[in-house]
Amino acid sequence: MRSMFLGLIAAILAPTLAIAACDPGEERIRFSHVTAAQGHPKGEAALLLEQRINRELNGRACMEVFARSTLFNDDDVLPAMLRGEVEMAAPSLSKFEAYTRKFRVFDLPFMFEDVFAVEEFQYSPEGEALKRSMEAQGLIGLEFWHNGMKQISATRPLISPTDAAGMKFRIQPSPVLNAQMEALGSAGVAMPFSAVYEALKNGEVQGQENTWSNIYTQSFHTVQDGVTETNHGIIDYLVVTSADWWNGLEPGLHADLAQILLEVTHERNRFAFEIGEMNRSRIMADGGVIRELTPEQRAEWVAAFAPVWDQFRGDIGDDLIAAAERAQGGF
Ligand code: LMR
Repeated sequence: MRSMFLGLIAAILAPTLAIAACDPGEERIRFSHVTAAQGHPKGEAALLLEQRINRELNGRACMEVFARSTLFNDDDVLPAMLRGEVEMAAPSLSKFEAYTRKFRVFDLPFMFEDVFAVEEFQYSPEGEALKRSMEAQGLIGLEFWHNGMKQISATRPLISPTDAAGMKFRIQPSPVLNAQMEALGSAGVAMPFSAVYEALKNGEVQGQENTWSNIYTQSFHTVQDGVTETNHGIIDYLVVTSADWWNGLEPGLHADLAQILLEVTHERNRFAFEIGEMNRSRIMADGGVIRELTPEQRAEWVAAFAPVWDQFRGDIGDDLIAAAERAQGGF
């Protein structure tokens, strides 16, 4: 069954890397991201977007996707966008800290049961409003893209939350994630995604938290003792652009781009979970160790992280937290 499903996913995903060359007169759209181009939810969505824009808007627009931080890394991409050096990106929701505190809701540990609950929240009025919450700072969110649930890996087995005490974990630049690591008696070290593999390998940090797709495509499992399947948080993305650029587009092109992006979002978000499962299998096939938790063991992690919520409730707002809670079990 699993191999049938892997074959199906492999057939659906983009078979080749598209190489775009923009002609004079075409609107050039540079799309920068930090993950793998293929076999990854974000990479595959960006590829499909590139293929469709270059085919359907040929002569009017041209997209060039830069994967694996080859244009900008997470720290630089949003300032670069505001300077007009890149037109689109899809940073994870933890990377918008400098522009809004509302996105901290996505980092609260054990806030979302699964990626379907995340989607339900994003389509709620409160979730939709988040896309426009950074317009005053010059950024417009267009669509949410999915990756998956986060797991924790380290240089020694993590079964109880107390096993993590004293270790350093790489985190995304989010105070919520830092507080989460402090709740374990460990330390969070923020660094760009592109630096994580080396930092794990050379011992600068002993662990990290990420999705199956990010762990496999960055080979994190090869420099860790194992990965504990905690499903304690999410990594999801906002496709974002600068308000100046987006609002300045010729109206017909603006509408066509928005429509193609919407269709690609629906098409690719449907497969994010399956791609994650595929990468989970690949980690095991590659000799990686995955540790599952019993319900009792998982409850210990939930209890250890519970105090983090109260630290950030004020910044996020009770209304937004309540809306996210309502989305649980909606599918
Ligand atoms: C990370 O920094 O760990 C992730 O946000 C990277 C990504 O874009 O999935």
